[in-house]
Amino acid sequence: MNRNSLLSMRDLGVTDIVQILNDALLFHDTYRDWQLPCSKALVANLFFEASTRTHYSFESAELQLGCKAADIAVSGSSVTKGESLYDTVKTLEAIGYDAVVIRHPQDAYYKQLENVNIPILNAGDGAGDHPTQCLLDLLTMYREFGTLEGLNVVICGDILHSRVASSNKEALEKLGSKVRFAGPKEWEREGFEVVDFDEAIPDADVVMMLRIQKERGAALAGMSDEMYLKQYGLSKERYARMKDSAIVMHPAPVNRGVEIDTDLVEAPKSRIFPQMSNGVLVRKAVIKRAFGFAPFEQEKCNEK
Ligand code: CP
Repeated sequence: MNRNSLLSMRDLGVTDIVQILNDALLFHDTYRDWQLPCSKALVANLFFEASTRTHYSFESAELQLGCKAADIAVSGSSVTKGESLYDTVKTLEAIGYDAVVIRHPQDAYYKQLENVNIPILNAGDGAGDHPTQCLLDLLTMYREFGTLEGLNVVICGDILHSRVASSNKEALEKLGSKVRFAGPKEWEREGFEVVDFDEAIPDADVVMMLRIQKERGAALAGMSDEMYLKQYGLSKERYARMKDSAIVMHPAPVNRGVEIDTDLVEAPKSRIFPQMSNGVLVRKAVIKRAFGFAPFEQEKCNEK
């Protein structure tokens, strides 16, 4: 496995995370136009699951960095003839791709890619990890509060099937935030501290809502969208009880009127669309890292 791969937040120490956030912040201003010196870097985007944000913000980041970005259409590839994931990725390496971004429904799919030598950037593995989503979430919080230490984060919804929940728990706890979880009992997860959502809201700095992952079998018998919003979603009443300084996050796509009242998606405390913009910055930072470039030296992120 290439050591510049990014597979899971478990693989990143605090220093690595701070370096990525620092580079992302610098891509926002000082290094806005910075490009990879090797303009021939070919990056393959290999998505076995649907994606709007991750797929096209990786592509935007690749193009902004001067890479050549190629979408590998799974439906038109030999995957349809039974080719294994390993053989597909090894083929991309053999025919000249320099890095590959992969989203796949299988947890830890990357374990079968040990013998791939080009960097692999995990764009989401089943209910496992979503490291670049986590990094963009961290960047969004850092840009809001100027620190991650001591933040009170409540993550609510489909914890059980969410790779965003596990990646954020891993990273936020490392960085000194307090992370707790709320939602239906059916979707609780071992090792994830549960709180009553209504009780947790007034003290939360960040209220992060999660999408119900129907594609992974999430369903609550007999519960309508309206009932879900009332019991577990971010309703206007709950929003009104948030601190003035608190923010709302959601990895999106959003099920409007289910996880969050549709009028709140772009409400003043919502950072849902800024999260997506931050996604391009962190993906530029992880691509730069994947190609072996050292972190920028200027300090923007002060987390220790
Ligand atoms: N947040 C996220 O991963 O969105 P996409 O599935 O659209 O990439």
